Amino acid sequence: MRIDKFLSNAGIASRSEIKRFFKDKRITINDTLVIQSKTQIDPNRDIIKVDNKIIKYKPYYYFVLNKPQGYVSANEDDRYPTVMDFFTNLHIKGLTHVGRLDKDTTGVLLITNDGKLGHFLISPKSNVKKIYSLIVDKELNEAIVKKFKDGIVLENKERCKPSKLTIVNKKQATLELTEGKYHQVKRMMRSVGYEVTSLNRIQFAFLTLKNLKPGEYYELNDQEINELNKYLR
Ligand code: URA
Repeated sequence: MRIDKFLSNAGIASRSEIKRFFKDKRITINDTLVIQSKTQIDPNRDIIKVDNKIIKYKPYYYFVLNKPQGYVSANEDDRYPTVMDFFTNLHIKGLTHVGRLDKDTTGVLLITNDGKLGHFLISPKSNVKKIYSLIVDKELNEAIVKKFKDGIVLENKERCKPSKLTIVNKKQATLELTEGKYHQVKRMMRSVGYEVTSLNRIQFAFLTLKNLKPGEYYELNDQEINELNKYLR
C-alpha cells in the first residue's frame, strides 16, 4: 500500500495537507525519514510516524454520534446541516451514517466506513434492537401497551412485529423495536391516535450514548467493534 494512501485512510489530514507533510519531512517509516509519497509500505508491519507519533492502521472506523435536533441523516444536503458535518475534519473516506434518524429526532447514530457491516445492520434480517425514549401528546395507558405487544398495523395496513412499549410516566414511554421502517415510531404511535412530540434513540444494538452531549461522538473500542461484527456471523 502507498504511504500517502495509508495516511489518508488514517484520517489524520486532508490529501493536500499530507502532501505537505512529506515536503516538511514530518513522516518516517521505521524511523527512517520518507519524502516520496508513493513509497510502498506494509501497514501490518511497518511503523509509520508523523511528527514522531505512531499512526495506527485501521481499515475501518466506527463512531457513535449523539445526533442533535435540526441535522439531517445524509452525507450532503442543500438546506440543512447533516450528521456528517461533525466528521469532516477527520477526512475519512467512505464514512457514512448507518440508517437514518429524522431531522427532529436525537440520539444514537452509528457512523462507519465499514459498508458491509453498515448495510447488514440496517437490513431487515439483522433484527438489530433499537430503543427509543418518546414523549407523546396525550396520556398513555395499558391498552396501548397491549396493542404494541400484539403487533401494530400502520395506517397503510403495513404490519409491524410485536414490540415492547413501557410507560415511564403519563406521556413518556420507551419503545423497543427490531425493525427500522420509515418514520416507524411516529407512524406506530399515530396508528393508535397519538402524536410523538419528542423522540430520542437511546440504544442501537448494544450501543448507548454513554455521556455524550448532542453533537458529540465517541469512537468504538476493539471490544465493541468485535461485538458489532458478531451480527455478520
Ligand atoms: N422512528 C421515527 O419515527 N423517527 C425516527 O427518527 C426513528 C424512528
